[in-house]
Amino acid sequence: MTMVPGTVRPRRLRTTPALRRLVTETRLHPADLILPMFVKETLSEPAPLTSMPGVVQHTLDSLLEAANEAVDAGVGGLMLFGIPEHKDNEGSQADDPEGILNRALTLLRDNLGDETVIMADLCLDEFTSHGHCGVLDASGGVDNDATLSRYASMAVAQARAGAHVLGLSGMMDGQVAACREALDLEGFTDVVIMAYSAKYASAFFGPFREAVDSELQGDRKTYQQDPANGREAMRELDLDLAEGADVVMVKPGLPYLDVLAEVACESPVPVWAYQVSGEYAMIEFAAAAGAIDRERAIEESLIAFKRAGADAVLTYWATEVAQRLNSEQ
Ligand code: PBG
Repeated sequence: MTMVPGTVRPRRLRTTPALRRLVTETRLHPADLILPMFVKETLSEPAPLTSMPGVVQHTLDSLLEAANEAVDAGVGGLMLFGIPEHKDNEGSQADDPEGILNRALTLLRDNLGDETVIMADLCLDEFTSHGHCGVLDASGGVDNDATLSRYASMAVAQARAGAHVLGLSGMMDGQVAACREALDLEGFTDVVIMAYSAKYASAFFGPFREAVDSELQGDRKTYQQDPANGREAMRELDLDLAEGADVVMVKPGLPYLDVLAEVACESPVPVWAYQVSGEYAMIEFAAAAGAIDRERAIEESLIAFKRAGADAVLTYWATEVAQRLNSEQ
């Protein structure tokens, strides 16, 4: 291609805000944003998290209030995490209908019906006294297959409690198939499984450990993926699809946009991404220190997920950003 120097000017399309708006390739919409929320059994007041300024552990009352606010702002859905008073080796509160997460699901479903999409984290780490995502074998390792039956029981309990979507975040082999089978046997054929297909053993989950009062010693490297491996994510994707995942997820977000882009290219089902607690904290603390413009950094980070191919993003800023998007219209 021969070009006359000076006649090709990409800047031409950047000259006015209206022109830039017209040629933008990627847009954020409130419905693309999913709000993760924490509900803790022992609280009588919401408890702010020091490592995530602006995020709280909720009481049931404050959870409902914040859920209503998010729904009014038009967010796409709510993802619930529960912190029980009592933790034990098996995570027995996870599938107890009276467990805090299941009670919270019922509360939201009773109040919100099908107005939004109510999702539950399906994993044992918030419920176990050792903090691992599964049950342990005699030598202290995470027992994959024993964990599957716990997950299957959780799946049924969460579906019964009113969840529309189950977020399988434990990274056990076979978890999607085990939960699908259990749900179908109980008649919950319409409950959606969202598989955290590519989930990495990441330092960026740091603040989440405070958010769920995690008891974890050590790490999750025997079940979560090695940050060095990209190709392996495609294997996890294939397995989750074969087992019947309805939606797949990549997590964390910004450090793994290459993985997200590849999964988004290959996946026949919706692809979501999780802007995790450490990503949230980085922007909040950098902004508080005056190093970056908070709102612009938040928006830029979210648009990057969409550009890389995410259909929706879990973000702790979901309500705030949705409200801002509404006010800009
Ligand atoms: C597991 C789970 C984790 C997160 C979501 N689901 C923690 C982990 O795998 O260690 C992290 C979310 C975040 O950091 O914001 N139940």
